Amino acid sequence: MTSRPETGSSVTGPAPGGAAAPRHVAIIMDGNGRWAQARGLPRTEGHRHGLEALRKIIRHASSRGVDFITLYSFSSENWRRPPTEVSFLMSLLRRFVQRDLSELHKANCRVRIIGEREGLDPGIRSLLEESERVTAANTGMTVVIAFNYGSRDEITRAVRKLTQRYLAEGRDPSAITDAEISANLDTAGIPDPDLIIRTSGELRLSNFLMWQAAYAEFYFTPVLWPDFGPEEFDAALASFCERERRFGGVTATGS
Ligand code: FPP
Repeated sequence: MTSRPETGSSVTGPAPGGAAAPRHVAIIMDGNGRWAQARGLPRTEGHRHGLEALRKIIRHASSRGVDFITLYSFSSENWRRPPTEVSFLMSLLRRFVQRDLSELHKANCRVRIIGEREGLDPGIRSLLEESERVTAANTGMTVVIAFNYGSRDEITRAVRKLTQRYLAEGRDPSAITDAEISANLDTAGIPDPDLIIRTSGELRLSNFLMWQAAYAEFYFTPVLWPDFGPEEFDAALASFCERERRFGGVTATGS
């Protein structure tokens, strides 16, 4: 288990059972569309309820002592969805920042945004930048919103940036290290996720934190995202606490 720095967050206690909570939980919030369809509602209603679930989970994760929570809100592939759904998701992001930023700030949470910002609507981009700027000095839980995010795109941008820097400095790019790649990803300064949760029964990573997930534990649940509440989150934490993490090594008691 990683040692946990003092964060001054609104942490109220450890995960059920007294075991230490994972420091960084990342979530693929899947199943909004199916949740809506099962109720005869438009898909956008699923996303609206998904935003409610996201709010509850942010509060709950902070109360469980999580230091970083990353939420996959819009992938670089989600542009392929019908334009009405894309624009609804953009409006939800706006609503989230406009309505929830002050609450997050009051709760001492820091906001970080990962994903490609080039090409985003300038209004959305400045809201994202404002949310990072306003909360930059906070010391509580960091809420990482993955928006217009895709791992392949993130890694490609990092490698391009590093190679250009090396060449400009007359250095051989074959000396690039994995630590330098990590430090040039959008997640620079954020510890790798300990636990990745995916809802809705799908068993894949879908271009999410592929570099950072090297030693993450996975938790898959059939529950659709709008129905994923604090009890479900606690079940994921409890499952994490039962895992043995070896990071490529052997158990301490092994001969
Ligand atoms: C996947 O469900 C979910 C998304 C692509 C969007 C996630 C967005 C939210 C939870 C709302 C909060 C949003 C922001 C921007 C803060 P799906 O639509 O793929 O569900 P399906 O697989 O059942 O169709």
